[in-house]
Amino acid sequence: MQKRTFGNSNLEVSAVGLGCMGMSFSYGPVADKQEMISLIREAVERGVTFFDTAEVYGPFTNEELVGEALAPFRAQVVIATKFGFKPASNGEARWSELDSRPEHIKQVAAGSLKRLKVDAIDLFYQHRVDPDVPIEDVAGAVKGLIQEGKVKHFGLSEAGVQTIRRAHAVQPVTAVQSEYALWWRNPEAEVLPTLEELGIGFVPYSPLGKGFLTGKISENTTFDSSDFRNTLPRFTPEARKANQALIDLLGQIAERKQATPAQIALAWLLVQKPWIVPIPGTTKLSRLEENIGAVAVELTSDALREIESAASQITVQGGSVPRTSRATDRSLSETNGCSGSSCWASYYLVDTNICLQPAPVDRNEAHMALHRARRLHVSSKEPLVLQGCV
Ligand SMILES: NC(=O)c1ccc[n+]([C@@H]2O[C@H](COP(=O)([O-])OP(=O)(O)OC[C@H]3O[C@@H](n4cnc5c(N)ncnc54)[C@H](OP(=O)(O)O)[C@@H]3O)[C@@H](O)[C@H]2O)c1
Repeated sequence: MQKRTFGNSNLEVSAVGLGCMGMSFSYGPVADKQEMISLIREAVERGVTFFDTAEVYGPFTNEELVGEALAPFRAQVVIATKFGFKPASNGEARWSELDSRPEHIKQVAAGSLKRLKVDAIDLFYQHRVDPDVPIEDVAGAVKGLIQEGKVKHFGLSEAGVQTIRRAHAVQPVTAVQSEYALWWRNPEAEVLPTLEELGIGFVPYSPLGKGFLTGKISENTTFDSSDFRNTLPRFTPEARKANQALIDLLGQIAERKQATPAQIALAWLLVQKPWIVPIPGTTKLSRLEENIGAVAVELTSDALREIESAASQITVQGGSVPRTSRATDRSLSETNGCSGSSCWASYYLVDTNICLQPAPVDRNEAHMALHRARRLHVSSKEPLVLQGCV
């Protein structure tokens, strides 16, 4: 398997990694632990050296799984994990509240080290920007862990460019992880140019569009009741039907290349920058093999132009985070499930990572939400971008 290096760092990983979240979390029933241990080890046998997990996946169980599976291969692999969530105060099993206080980061690191069965965490990301904790304090806490030898590299997930710059000034950031795929291209506007300038690597998560870009999901597909895709506006049957055009495009290119849509989706990401390393997730060996096969698919500039031009004529429908999502994320607009003329307004609070809950549904509510967002903006001194969607 080809290797890639994250920006100016010395961290080298396989060109395609393995996202392990779905083995224990989010995508329906939890997979059999022994089978997943075998799958992770099969990935190592096939040259995958980059594995992605987080404290919150489970919580805890996904880190335990990854730690157990990779224990025999410690010297060969890079394990990335994430901090920044805490148990919900309302007792919900799913953690949704943020906590990036320095003392909490240190506690999480101690727990992750144990669960991963390692002496040092290779790459430790802040999972979501915490508006209550200055990013300098977060970077300082990770810097301290690096000085103690407990962490090797610092990462951020779903951070905006101001946060990235401020964090990087305190402790060099090795990689940023955010959603990026043919149907979600927001990082191209600001994040990727900033990473290029600063010499930081990029890890696209959900690179297969949570399965949709593989062509194996149609408007008739049903998901298990515990599968979080049931809550995503982009996965309503209507949105899936509308977005089928993108899959048709991938299918046509795949056929000509004797590849699969999933491979084209991943090859497209790989060709964007040499410091991009996607982490597709799967629970199946055949799909793992298919996904890593993307490294061998070469997209000519003609094929790329064709993808760009065809994709630019397709308007992807539906947001990609849950309507009631809290404590996430890159943009407030997504919480509206905004699709064309059907919603009033959408708000981006760049870098503050606070979602509106519930998402505004009418003009008055939207104005109130904007007012609250402005107050937050003032207090956090971050740029505010308002995007109309009417
Ligand atoms: N930083 C963050 O906030 C964040 C957020 C989300 C995810 N992540 C990380 O990113 C990783 C990948 O993202 P993701 O799992 O959300 O999305 P993804 O990789 O885009 O898609 C995973 C889904 O695609 C299916 N799939 C995978 N390969 C396939 C293939 N070749 N053909 C057909 N279906 C295929 C999987 O099902 P099967 O298991 O049935 O194959 C699974 O349902 C996660 O595991 C996690 O580590 C990070």
